[in-house]
Amino acid sequence: MNDLYTNEEHSPLKDIEDWEADLKDRYPDTDAEKSKEEYRNYLDSERQEMVKNFYKINHQHQTFEFVQEKEKEFLQFNKKEMAFWEAVDFLNTLVDDSDPDTDLDQLQHLLQTSEAIRADGHPDWFVLTGFIHDFGKVLCLFDEPQWAVVGDTFPVGCAFSDKIVFPEFFELNPDSQNPLYNTKYGVYTPNCGLDQVKMSWGHDEYLYQMVKDHLPEPALYMIRYHSFYSQHRENAYEHLMNEKDKEMFEWVKKFNPYDLYSKLPTPPDAKALKPYYQELVAKYLPSVLKF
Ligand SMILES: [Fe+2]
Ligand SMILES: [Fe+2]
Repeated sequence: MNDLYTNEEHSPLKDIEDWEADLKDRYPDTDAEKSKEEYRNYLDSERQEMVKNFYKINHQHQTFEFVQEKEKEFLQFNKKEMAFWEAVDFLNTLVDDSDPDTDLDQLQHLLQTSEAIRADGHPDWFVLTGFIHDFGKVLCLFDEPQWAVVGDTFPVGCAFSDKIVFPEFFELNPDSQNPLYNTKYGVYTPNCGLDQVKMSWGHDEYLYQMVKDHLPEPALYMIRYHSFYSQHRENAYEHLMNEKDKEMFEWVKKFNPYDLYSKLPTPPDAKALKPYYQELVAKYLPSVLKF
């Protein structure tokens, strides 16, 4: 067990789906639409409080030093070896607490995303990207705190933008008091390129580092920056980006709606689709992945 944090700090939103299921059991919806509506609002406000608390802890702990520690810890990939589908099965036991809108399991989310990309006729590596983009969430296997796996990502080592969700919580982050890190450029130089910039630690960077030798560059950008909402939605960090980043972010933007809004009317049939994805995975990725 991770003893650096209290349970509350480690998992501010633990088992959100169990909690909802339990509430529904305790307060079963009987008839009126109105009570359904009130019930939904009640759930939403509870969830919003949890998400807010989640970001408070995230913004407090994601420092330049924290990211370096996590890189040292995880980028040696010496924790475990897993066959691709073994890891899929594990991942599927997780719940994404950064997305208040999803009540799908992880495999369904991945298939919804990738199947929507496939239906639009995109190249196979784009489909594969949709299928694996949240694979870094296996970090939870290693008892990582939720806020060091999921949630919006943002640059560390320079000033936190007020375009990041709940910017007021950065007051709690020691880097915001550190003159090395709290200026517009911090430890970076104008338009140095995002490859030089450390992002807050999470599933995006981890998976990028795992697959960076195996996929085309646009796929790698989509994986590495898909949670970087303050840039791909708010354009708050263009001053750190070079020309290639700007060009490649068109792909990140193209990917984002598939990640957020893919809800096919009929849920993808995981069993029926498995052979297609097995072939696709085999085409690009090693059969055993190092975590
Ligand atoms: Fe993600
Ligand atoms: Fe996702």
